[in-house]
Amino acid sequence: MELTKVFENNEKWIARKLEADPDYFKNLSKGQSPEILYIGCSDSRVTAEDLMGAQPGEVFVHRNIANMVTSIDLNVMSVLNYAVNHLKVKHVVVCGHYFCGGVKAAMQAEDLGILNPWLRNIRDVYRLHEKELNAIADETERYNRLVELNVQEQCINLIKTAAVQKAYKERGLKVHGWVFDIHSGKLIDLKIDFDSLLKDIMQIYNLSS
Ligand code: CO
Repeated sequence: MELTKVFENNEKWIARKLEADPDYFKNLSKGQSPEILYIGCSDSRVTAEDLMGAQPGEVFVHRNIANMVTSIDLNVMSVLNYAVNHLKVKHVVVCGHYFCGGVKAAMQAEDLGILNPWLRNIRDVYRLHEKELNAIADETERYNRLVELNVQEQCINLIKTAAVQKAYKERGLKVHGWVFDIHSGKLIDLKIDFDSLLKDIMQIYNLSS
């Protein structure tokens, strides 16, 4: 994409928005109250707002390689705490996608330098579910199952945080795991049972007295 095209497109976008609503930007500048925090992959094919049909102001977005929620990543933890404690979002979504390059890289025997510690978190997901994954003979199927299990583990990482535990208790915040199927464009809800997951891990990860 030509960069000059970006600014041309921007002008056209402004015109379209103002045509539909002359106060569009005036209203947009008043503030945001999104109900969803979306944590997705940086992959250029998985466009958060576009695939959900969301408008500006509706979704708080964080994207990184392979949609990871890592407790020592100040970036994702800042986004999470701001969205949950200040914006008071009702839903936190982790959205992975089939044929994720980050997940694929974590299945290879290769030194990828600075990416190693990041992808190590995905290798840990593999180790945690090694039995199930190794029982899948087809490599593509195994790879896509790891995408799903990675989403599930990142949801668990979310509910290990004090911010999510507190908001769940106080106002019923919900965590969701989704996968975007690049082949069909379909968004799939993995229907992760948040309540039972929380129950399972609380004995160890409970941060509220
Ligand atoms: Co990806």
